Amino acid sequence: MRTQVSKMVLLVVMVVLLSLRGAESRKLGQISESFEYSAISCRAHTASITDFGGVGDGQTSNTKAFRNAITQLSRYSSDGGSQLYVPAGKWLTGSFNLTSHFTLYLHKDAVLLATQSQDLNEWPLIKPLPSYGRGRDAAGGRYTSLIFGSNLTDVIITGDNGTIDGQGAIWWQKFHQGKLKNTRPYLIEIMYSSGLQISNLTLLNSPSWNVHPVYSSDILVQGITIIAPGVLECLNTFSCVTPNVLMTFKSDSCTNTRIEDCYIVSGDDCVAVKSGWDEYGIAFGMPTKHLSIRRLTCISPYSAAIALGSEMSGGIEDVRAEDITAINTESAVRIKTGVGRGGYVKAIYVKGMSLHTMKWVFWITGNYGSHPDSHYDPNALPVIQNINYRDIVAENVAMAARLEGISNDPFTGICISNATIGLAAKAKKVPWTCTDINGITSRVTPRPCDLLPDQGPEKLSACDFPTERLPIDMVAFQKCSSSMNYM
Ligand SMILES: *[C@@H]1O[C@H](CO)[C@@H](O)[C@H](O)[C@H]1NC(C)=O
Ligand SMILES: *[C@@H]1O[C@H](CO)[C@@H](O)[C@H](O)[C@H]1NC(C)=O
Ligand SMILES: *[C@@H]1O[C@H](CO)[C@@H](O)[C@H](O)[C@H]1NC(C)=O
Ligand SMILES: *[C@@H]1O[C@H](CO)[C@@H](O)[C@H](O)[C@H]1NC(C)=O
Ligand SMILES: *[C@@H]1O[C@H](CO)[C@@H](O)[C@H](O)[C@H]1NC(C)=O
Repeated sequence: MRTQVSKMVLLVVMVVLLSLRGAESRKLGQISESFEYSAISCRAHTASITDFGGVGDGQTSNTKAFRNAITQLSRYSSDGGSQLYVPAGKWLTGSFNLTSHFTLYLHKDAVLLATQSQDLNEWPLIKPLPSYGRGRDAAGGRYTSLIFGSNLTDVIITGDNGTIDGQGAIWWQKFHQGKLKNTRPYLIEIMYSSGLQISNLTLLNSPSWNVHPVYSSDILVQGITIIAPGVLECLNTFSCVTPNVLMTFKSDSCTNTRIEDCYIVSGDDCVAVKSGWDEYGIAFGMPTKHLSIRRLTCISPYSAAIALGSEMSGGIEDVRAEDITAINTESAVRIKTGVGRGGYVKAIYVKGMSLHTMKWVFWITGNYGSHPDSHYDPNALPVIQNINYRDIVAENVAMAARLEGISNDPFTGICISNATIGLAAKAKKVPWTCTDINGITSRVTPRPCDLLPDQGPEKLSACDFPTERLPIDMVAFQKCSSSMNYM
């Protein structure tokens, strides 16, 4: 393999010398392409999926080709790393594993098509996540995600807006018919890893969640488009069945994550922040912290732009969201928790939201049900404190806020400032409902509930956004350029 790749590198150099004219040229049946992208690290070795027998006709299974390619390329982990190029075409595949110091790059017209086969060789089973105690769909195992990685460092999944299509309808059907004994696969899941980049891709038709980094750190996500089937269609018709789709970006027990410039159309929350479920999450004890979300555009008619919980038993701390646009979305930021969850949600900062057509701008739910089993501890009460929202403009809103803590466990330190909420013509008579919470407001209209008294405009700084940056904000992209030729 080493000689094969070196030969390829040589050939590429020759072809590039011969044809400096364009990004793509053909010589003796070879296609030569050069590509450039921004990444946290560039790679020394490059191969195309076609070098491993890949066929991009949308019919041929490429599961073996992907698995072989990555096994072979993993040899370069300690020799400058490697990248696997996926050219234009439709590449049908089952689940495959990534390796360290590795980049998967999708051409703009490349589509990774998830196989509709339900064969266990295509979707091997893995154990439930320890912080959840069981699978999310069923008590059994979990089908490995289409693109999966565990115990890795320095992994990049990117492309010139290439597509990953989960062809998930068959999984949704089984899910709704109650026929699943195991939890559905996601499009991308990376566990126990550090140094991840997921950028410039379009994700369609996931069988379940879209991108799920879990127990991982130093994660950069940029330029991802996620589109759930049925949601946009639903907004444009009057008789509409709720789309059966739960499509989200989930950050789960992760540290130091930056998500920016993403466009998400979701049947569930657009970005969900989690950290484990009841007694399993408490025992595992791995929080999500230092998460920055910027320039997110969300359409989520049945859920939130950003959700914290409901599985938050390992704790959620230091989440910063800036420049959030939400359209036809149920709520902007929602905290979901309940008795038995334990854990905490604290130091949450949101600044700059532009919201159009919404049920509740602020929504906090202290009685969210949904337990993994009946063994949860009824004395495990969540701590919700220091929640800050500022600089918000909303229009066509049914209700400004619905904030419900837990009796004997009030949610404290809620701060809202500089928020102008335009109510819809058919808005609820009482724009705020507040129970078992406390905090302050300033310059908020309509007038907040009595549990959030107005402190006057001089208290605007009370809900300030942190000024010191996160380590992940300092991570810069390099320009990587590569040339390849393949048959
Ligand atoms: C993603 O694409 C945008 C627009 O083409 C580009 O500016 C940006 O550098 C790309 N980012 C990454 C990380 O590839
Ligand atoms: C993928 O990785 C998982 C976890 O490390 C492992 O159990 C599984 O066998 C691997 N699958 C393949 C196809 O190599
Ligand atoms: C992956 O990392 C986790 C956490 O460090 C560890 O428990 C597990 O054994 C590792 N798995 C493998 C296959 O090395
Ligand atoms: C990527 O492709 C999607 C789907 O075709 C499109 O909606 C989106 O605007 C594209 N993004 C960029 C940055 O070109
Ligand atoms: C109030 O919020 C608006 C909208 O985000 C912003 O333009 C303005 O600068 C904010 N005002 C102050 C005093 O921060």
